[in-house]
Amino acid sequence: MTYTLTILGCGVMGQAILSAIYNAPAADADVKHFYPSKIITCNHNKAAADQVTQLVSGFGKSANGIEVESTFDQNKPAVEEADVIVLATKPFLAKQVLDGVAAEIKGKLIISLAAGWTIGQLQGYTDFVSRVMTNTPAKFGYGMAVIAHSPEVSDEKKALVGELIGHVGKCIELPEKNMDAATALVGSGPAFVLLMLESLMESGIKMGIPLKESRECAIKVLEGTAKMVEITGEHPSVLKHQVCTPGGTTIAGLCVMEDKGVRSGIIKGVEEAAEVAARLGKK
Ligand SMILES: NC(=O)c1ccc[n+]([C@@H]2O[C@H](COP(=O)([O-])OP(=O)(O)OC[C@H]3O[C@@H](n4cnc5c(N)ncnc54)[C@H](OP(=O)(O)O)[C@@H]3O)[C@@H](O)[C@H]2O)c1
Repeated sequence: MTYTLTILGCGVMGQAILSAIYNAPAADADVKHFYPSKIITCNHNKAAADQVTQLVSGFGKSANGIEVESTFDQNKPAVEEADVIVLATKPFLAKQVLDGVAAEIKGKLIISLAAGWTIGQLQGYTDFVSRVMTNTPAKFGYGMAVIAHSPEVSDEKKALVGELIGHVGKCIELPEKNMDAATALVGSGPAFVLLMLESLMESGIKMGIPLKESRECAIKVLEGTAKMVEITGEHPSVLKHQVCTPGGTTIAGLCVMEDKGVRSGIIKGVEEAAEVAARLGKK
């Protein structure tokens, strides 16, 4: 099967998805049919479409033989030609964009990245909905994606979505009731981690380590620690206690951080972001 995939709104996240799918390594025979032969990107402005053309010209040839056509102001014909549509406009523009292609999108699979847009709302346009929450590290292949499908999406189509979206980094499936939490944890998560990274950097600078070296140390500490948790499969508290020598430096630092409410500040901050995400969905 060869098919066309259309990306409606090819900005930050649309380009991340485009890069991930286009640059995917050659697919095994059993999943090759999940890859589109053509991707059409849709923007509103010519300058944005030209930027997509320029981005693609910097890629090598797609290992899965994908061709890209970047367009502007061509949503209707692009959706008409497609079998699968990725919705990647800003959430507040999604209604206008979907209303404009309502006839063409009916009966097709829509993979929506739009924060706050529920499966129920999207089913006003087509029964076949995969709602995805991902994040900006997807641009570099280190993204996380959480997917919830409408009941009408077949197992074959779920496998297609998982195969394509998996190239942003990693993807898992969760029920839709978890999507607001995923919006906060996954979508906003990079900003929360960057606050931690920035704080670590500034601690180094405050104590006299130059900016460049503080930055290098902070990045590697975050990256290495996350990898250690992933590789060992241990609970973070187990690994944390392995670093705490009795009467030592680490436990002293941790006690001050707990006293300052770092843990509850992070938990409550992520919860607050999820509450805002839930309100977005009701608007
Ligand atoms: N950025 C994040 O961290 C993040 C994280 C998780 C989820 N998301 C979700 O990803 C989605 C996209 O966000 P983003 O940050 O990628 O936004 P973005 O960079 O603003 O990209 C949106 C694109 O939509 C295009 N567009 C606007 N009106 C259009 C129209 N009528 N027809 C076709 N294209 C149109 C814009 O192109 P023009 O320039 O031509 O107008 C723009 O390139 C959002 O729904 C958001 O909730 C984003």
